[in-house]
Amino acid sequence: MEKPAVTDHQLLPSIAQRWSPRAYASTPVEAEKLCSLFEAARWSASCFNDQPWNFIVATKVETLAYQQILECLVPFNQAWAQAAPVLIVAIASQNFKHDGKPNAWGEYDLGEAVATLAVQATSMGLQMHQMAGFEPEKVISTFKLPAHFKPMASIALGYPGEVSSLPPDLQERETAARSRHPLSSFVFTGEWGQPASFTD
Ligand SMILES: Cc1cc2nc3c(=O)[nH]c(=O)nc-3n(C[C@H](O)[C@H](O)[C@H](O)COP(=O)(O)O)c2cc1C
Repeated sequence: MEKPAVTDHQLLPSIAQRWSPRAYASTPVEAEKLCSLFEAARWSASCFNDQPWNFIVATKVETLAYQQILECLVPFNQAWAQAAPVLIVAIASQNFKHDGKPNAWGEYDLGEAVATLAVQATSMGLQMHQMAGFEPEKVISTFKLPAHFKPMASIALGYPGEVSSLPPDLQERETAARSRHPLSSFVFTGEWGQPASFTD
């Protein structure tokens, strides 16, 4: 299924076409495409070019590793994400590599890397669904994360599947209209809350 954004202004197709499905096809994701996804993340900008992003990835054929990530998800997310051929955990380094001091922008930079990965995914016919609904402590213990690495999100990724593969309540969510706040509600000028003139 496709669910393009109804945008107010022109966008790159892979931004407008990105969305977060819960239905995935069982088709495996090609290794070359997985490399392109993480290459996209790799070329994100980051504070001090520190590149504080880290990913734990498992494809469905890597049964144990896949199951380990799946078990870190909350039950609601497990129910649909278990259909995705790839599961990922996105982890931010909390300290700078060059001096070991706290990096207040590590999570910001990880988010940018994941956003870039998402756009690359869409451009290759893939979609992904990020999840805050997982247990960070379980990720830390299962994957033996060193200190100062913070699991920020889990991600289900694959080719979009049939809506009919989902239970009825999720089918409803899958087909619900997408919505966003208008530009004037978050693009300001002069003072906080004053919409920038071009947003009229
Ligand atoms: C950091 C983050 C956490 C999210 N957590 C969950 C989650 O645990 N479960 C879920 O079903 N969707 C989750 N979502 C998906 C959002 O609900 C979704 O991105 C949002 O509704 C906008 O829809 P769109 O991505 O299709 O544009 C999360 C998204 C983000 C970015």
